[in-house]
Formats: sequence, structure tokens, C-alpha cells
Amino acid sequence: MNKDQLESLAEKLIEKIRVRPKHKYDPAKLARDYKVSREDIIVCLDLLQSWGYKFNADKNGFFSFGSAPDSLTAIEVGHKLKTKFIARRIHSWKSLQSTNTTAHQLAASGAPEGTLVLAEQQTRGRGRFGRNWHSPAGLGIYASIILRPKISPNLAPGISLIAALAMADSIASYGDLDIKIKWPNDILIKGKKTAGILTELSAEIGRTNYVIVGLGINVNHKPADFPESLRKGSTSIRAGLKREIIRVDFIKYFMLKFEKEYVDFKKHGLVKSRKRIIAYSSLINSPINLKIGRKTVSGNVLDIDENGQLVVETSEGIKHFSAGEVTTH
Ligand code: BTN
Repeated sequence: MNKDQLESLAEKLIEKIRVRPKHKYDPAKLARDYKVSREDIIVCLDLLQSWGYKFNADKNGFFSFGSAPDSLTAIEVGHKLKTKFIARRIHSWKSLQSTNTTAHQLAASGAPEGTLVLAEQQTRGRGRFGRNWHSPAGLGIYASIILRPKISPNLAPGISLIAALAMADSIASYGDLDIKIKWPNDILIKGKKTAGILTELSAEIGRTNYVIVGLGINVNHKPADFPESLRKGSTSIRAGLKREIIRVDFIKYFMLKFEKEYVDFKKHGLVKSRKRIIAYSSLINSPINLKIGRKTVSGNVLDIDENGQLVVETSEGIKHFSAGEVTTH
């Protein structure tokens, strides 16, 4: 068997073994079931152990399922995931330059709506405004979802907002933390950045080809895991909760929440979700500076409108903004 065949058999094996986790499996019987040699089964079990799976072996050479690793793999994230179309296809890598870049390539070659791209680490993770996204292995979640909504491109920023809403709700499900959405797509815990969303689209005039929603989430980082330059303004879910969480559980919960919000968004836009987004918003009634390209506008935030635009009272009247970088003072 070559490497690909062994990997594919290992994936099938772990799916099967998990269905009856307490059952004692006989490698010889599994070999007969899969029409391979007993040695192939043993090699696959070794491979699964190298991926972080644990088994309980007895003295007769039989074994049962032990535990699964908290790895952002297609097997783990796809296991018993209850979504209908989001993350029904998952591509996972140990390391990528950027999950958004890979998602663009997959989308351009026809990947269906809902395809999820995951990486354990990114070597060139991208943030908004050309910044880097610090993406160390094993601590955070780096994910991109491919969407194909039939909407006008000017409505696409709404997708960032519903992703931020699903993210805030997912973090809130872990406990009573001070979670805020800083328009348009930063998630803050106690005023520090915990997650960011980079939504990119491929569009023509009046028509969206596809949307990539990139999610960078600081999950199990300790303060020392951030570079000095980010330490002051960044935090993680772990730091907020004061305990580690299982990343795989988090991303599965998020996918379910996001799917619900996205289905609703495709039918009703932000009509139904707007109030919940505003309830999380850190900017309502605050004085802000909004940088749009080279221009900076100052004013007081009044609202987020039904297109997801920030409504600001400026010295030149009330204005609606669809993008920009906000600083508070
Ligand atoms: C921001 O706040 O500036 C947005 C950060 C988005 C980072 C994520 S990590 C997964 C995906 N791939 C990327 O290269 N960027 C996004």
C-alpha cells in the first residue's frame, strides 16, 4: 500500500472504530473486512497514533478506541458535525501560507458552497489592511469558508457581520465573558482582540462570484504566546475563561451557528440579526475616528443599519459607512 492508500484506510478505520468506541476490535478481523493484510491494519493504527489518536490494547492484541486529538483536521471537525451544507467538505493542512489564499484557489476551481479550509498553522496569515495574522501551530483556529451567495457585492459586508455574530455567540456559550463586536469584524474580550474576520470576494459589477470568510481565532494562547508587539491589544478565549478549550468543539459549534445565521441572511439580509449585532457592538454611542483610505472621519456612532453600514453623526451630517478602520478615543 502506498502512503495515500494507507492514509485513506486509516481515515476509514478511525470512523468505524469510533462508532462503537467500547468495542474490542480484532486487527485480523478488520483486515478481512477491508480486504487488506493484518500488517496494513497495524501500520494504519500506528499512523493514527502518530496523528494523536489513542487506543487501549489488551494482551490478546485486541484494542478499543481511547481518545481523539484536538486537531483541526477534516476527520475531527467533520466527525458528527450536524450542519447541512457548511463544512460538509473540509480540506485540512498542517501548514498553509494562508487558508484564505487556498480557499480562493479552491473556489476558482469550482469548490461548492460551504467548503471549509483549515490549517494548524499559517506561515503568511493575512489580516485586514495588509497586516499579518499571527498564526502559531496548535493554539489558534485558522479557517476559511467558501460561500456562493446570489447577492449584490455591496451586500457582502453583511456576511462579515453575521460571522462576527456567530463568533460572539460561540464564545459566549463558554461563559459569561465581556464579549464585544468592534464593527465591522473584530471580536473583543474585555476590550482586547480575540478574533478577526477577513472577508474577501470575487465579484463583477452587480454579481458576486464567491465570498471567502477567513476566521482567525486566538483560542488557547497564553499572553507569552503573542509577540511583544501584539501582547497589549490581544487576548484569547483561554485567557478570558482561565481554562483551555477544545478547538475542535469550538469550530464545530461555530459552523452550526454560522450556517443558521447565513441561511437567515440569504432570506432576510440583516433584518433579523441586526438587533443582536448591535447588542454586542462596542461602538454604539461612542466617539470614533474612522479611517477610509487616506481620509479620516470623526463622529459619534449612532447605529448599524440594515445593510451593515456604520451610521455616524459627523460635523457634515449623518453618514453611513460600509468599510474602514475604527479607532476610539
Ligand atoms: C483581521 O482582524 O485583520 C482579520 C484576520 C483574519 C485572519 C484569518 S486566519 C484564517 C484566514 N486566512 C488568512 O490569511 N487570514 C484569515
